[in-house]
Amino acid sequence: MKEFYISDCSRQENQTITSLFVVAVKQVKSKKNGELYLSVILADRSGQLQANMWDNVQDTISAFDQDDFVKVKGVIHKYNGRWQLTIHKMRKLGESEIDYSDYLPKTSKDIDQLWHTLEGYVASFENPWLKALLHEFMSDEAIVTAYKNAPAAKTLHHAFVGGLLDHVVSLFTVCDLASRNYPQVNRDLLLSGAFLHDIGKLHELTYQRSISYTTEGQLLGHMIIELEMLHQKIARVPGFPPELKILLEHMIISHHGQYEFGSPKLPMFPEALMLHYMDDLDSKMESMRAQFEREAEFDSPWASYNPSLARPLLNTKKFLAKGLAASRIVETPKPAAAESVASVVPTEEISPAEEPNGNSPKADAPDAVPAAATVASEKPALSPLEALEQKFAAHKVTSKPS
Ligand SMILES: [Fe+2]
Ligand SMILES: [Fe+2]
Repeated sequence: MKEFYISDCSRQENQTITSLFVVAVKQVKSKKNGELYLSVILADRSGQLQANMWDNVQDTISAFDQDDFVKVKGVIHKYNGRWQLTIHKMRKLGESEIDYSDYLPKTSKDIDQLWHTLEGYVASFENPWLKALLHEFMSDEAIVTAYKNAPAAKTLHHAFVGGLLDHVVSLFTVCDLASRNYPQVNRDLLLSGAFLHDIGKLHELTYQRSISYTTEGQLLGHMIIELEMLHQKIARVPGFPPELKILLEHMIISHHGQYEFGSPKLPMFPEALMLHYMDDLDSKMESMRAQFEREAEFDSPWASYNPSLARPLLNTKKFLAKGLAASRIVETPKPAAAESVASVVPTEEISPAEEPNGNSPKADAPDAVPAAATVASEKPALSPLEALEQKFAAHKVTSKPS
């Protein structure tokens, strides 16, 4: 039973811990005096941790390999603002000591709820052929189980159990919103492409021990695999129009957007182009979100270099928080005045931009605070998605091209 998780580091600073991890990276390096030391990245379902073993490493070096599960005793400490573990003892675990669920990260969202959301979108399809096709996939028990559990990628984004479903529901949401802004886009076709674009990953990736490629995945890749899956399911929908079939095939093979990213064709119609950009956007947004979450403890607003995006990342939330903290030092704090200003502005006149500091032009408003208006200061701000939904609701397209 694993008691210490990597996300618990801040509660164990300078303490000796003993716990179980999977070895994500193993390197043997040399100190300045030529002696060898062991540098590893340990992982569990809560994150990753740099760990070094400085002394008496000779026996340990040959005792385990990368991807092995290990029991480690060592001291947690901070180095350059980041958590590290100095290893005292380390041994490889036996198969009976491994509980895989301790190591594979899993989506924090409710998987059944995500699936229900997906079903809701498909139920809203107007195109009977696409609706019937997706029902063929969504009533196949083996596919449903795999779709609910598969990661969306090995490392780049949504690399956790349930990641594919999480990614596709997010993609459905942004594609649905974007299609309302572009009437030339066939929403049902776009969402069908979103459902299918990575479905080959059910067979491309294996994720029992750690996330890695299957032989089928290595040799064929998910686009070829999903073409075959598509053909199998289309065969179960008699009379499926060949025009829709070729559009879906093109969306599958072009969704990486560029030849050098494995697409043999560039996206050549609006739904294919939009699928590519939305897929790219969603994977990059998730890659950034996950990195900020992993590095939540860092003091600096600058996160580590992100290898998949090939750039360092700025955490704007931390950056702005630090700026506001600095500005509070030079400003004269006026908490009472600020409260009363927020309270007298009618609900619909409070914009999110005005709420944080209360410096609205109505600063000379009377001190009397009407009871009903007080509620205005407590109105929760709209999430960006809610704001977008409100905006698009006004432009809702009721008739779509078929
Ligand atoms: Fe893909
Ligand atoms: Fe994707």
